[in-house]
Amino acid sequence: MARSPIIVGLEIGTSKICAVVTEVRDDGALKILGVGEAPSRGVRKGEIVDFDTAQKCAREALADAEAKSDTEIVSAWVGVTGSHIASFNNRGVVQIPPERGEIDEQDIEDVKTSAREVSLPQENHFLHSIIQHYSVDGNDGVQEPVGMLGSRLEADFHVIHGVGNRLRNTIRCVKEIPLEIEDVALNGIASAMVVVAPQRKQLGTLMIDIGGGTTDYVLFSEGAVVQSGVLGLGGDHVNNDIAMGLRIPINRAEKLKIEEGSALLGNCLPGETVTLQDETGFAGREIERETLNTIIHLRLREAFEILKRQLESETYLHRLGGGIVITGGTSLLHGIDSVVEDVFNLPVERVHAQEMAGVTSAFLNPRYSTAIGLAKYGQAVLSDRFSPNIGDRISATVRRFFGRFRRSKGEQP
Ligand SMILES: Nc1ncnc2c1ncn2[C@@H]1O[C@H](COP(=O)(O)OP(=O)(O)O)[C@@H](O)[C@H]1O
Ligand SMILES: [Mg+2]
Repeated sequence: MARSPIIVGLEIGTSKICAVVTEVRDDGALKILGVGEAPSRGVRKGEIVDFDTAQKCAREALADAEAKSDTEIVSAWVGVTGSHIASFNNRGVVQIPPERGEIDEQDIEDVKTSAREVSLPQENHFLHSIIQHYSVDGNDGVQEPVGMLGSRLEADFHVIHGVGNRLRNTIRCVKEIPLEIEDVALNGIASAMVVVAPQRKQLGTLMIDIGGGTTDYVLFSEGAVVQSGVLGLGGDHVNNDIAMGLRIPINRAEKLKIEEGSALLGNCLPGETVTLQDETGFAGREIERETLNTIIHLRLREAFEILKRQLESETYLHRLGGGIVITGGTSLLHGIDSVVEDVFNLPVERVHAQEMAGVTSAFLNPRYSTAIGLAKYGQAVLSDRFSPNIGDRISATVRRFFGRFRRSKGEQP
């Protein structure tokens, strides 16, 4: 019996590299066959700074995923991130020739191209153009313009772009693993695909994926992506602050944060301490719990205030009926939801991938949201390719731009 198509999502995170192997079931659901991971090295704030080291880690993660899913991985949908990522909203317009009068697929492509006709910094390239709304002859709210009669097609897009060379670094690094790249997608867009429910998108929701070195965010309003971006801040900065503040090594700072830390202030008894076990066998050191929590709180509060200021360049933040959802490894930190709630004055919920079949314990972990989302993105693009305008309407135009990085059979990496 022919096996269903295998779709692999690969996230090269700052903390871990994660590969999720999925297959599309007959009923169209995506089933997780296995999740492989390895600690990440050679990656800074979501961008690869040491190819050899990062490739070694990626090979480990892929081998782990192959073993756990009993499959051979030949290609993947790869996530990109970095603080160079930027976005804007723009409207495209095309005139339909009167002799035709009917909107076709090419018009959809042309209206997208038209929305991209803005001057980007020279070194930047488009990553995504995500459709928000179509309008035919001034009639808003058109869901499916192909086949409609009209003379003027307009479409609003959320356009995401980034520095070409910085995007290519990830692509080249993966290619040299060697691994074929199906396509790349912004990490935040991938996470949002599996952690934000359709109803929430409609109500208006801010998704924040807080990882180790980056915080990736996507804001939905009336069902459409209207703001997105990346901050070069995450849980690793909390680790650094704890290490500096308490004068302990980074790895112990991270362990202390995960096992004992909280982002809540005033949540412990006066003078309450935690014992930091000495790894060399000497007596442990007492650390004031309030000191630890204050360090965590201040750093996170600062990060969310920066994010809030960034989002306040537009007005959507004040119309979020669906509140805020947080995911990514740092969303597991005790009390982080209260800090976000406090800064934004909106309800906050911790979320992980939804509606997936297969390995339950794996997809319930918010650390895997991006990698699972990348597989979901792959599924959406593949179904889009065979049947246009289905799925979340995320275009794979990046394939064209990055096409020459795609390794064809027999080609040397
Ligand atoms: N249980 C936990 N509590 C608090 N922080 C956690 C927990 N688990 C992981 N983290 C933090 O999450 C970050 C990694 O998140 P992750 O989403 O895996 O990052 P990335 O995608 O950037 O590699 C690290 O800073 C780590 O310390
Ligand atoms: Mg991540």
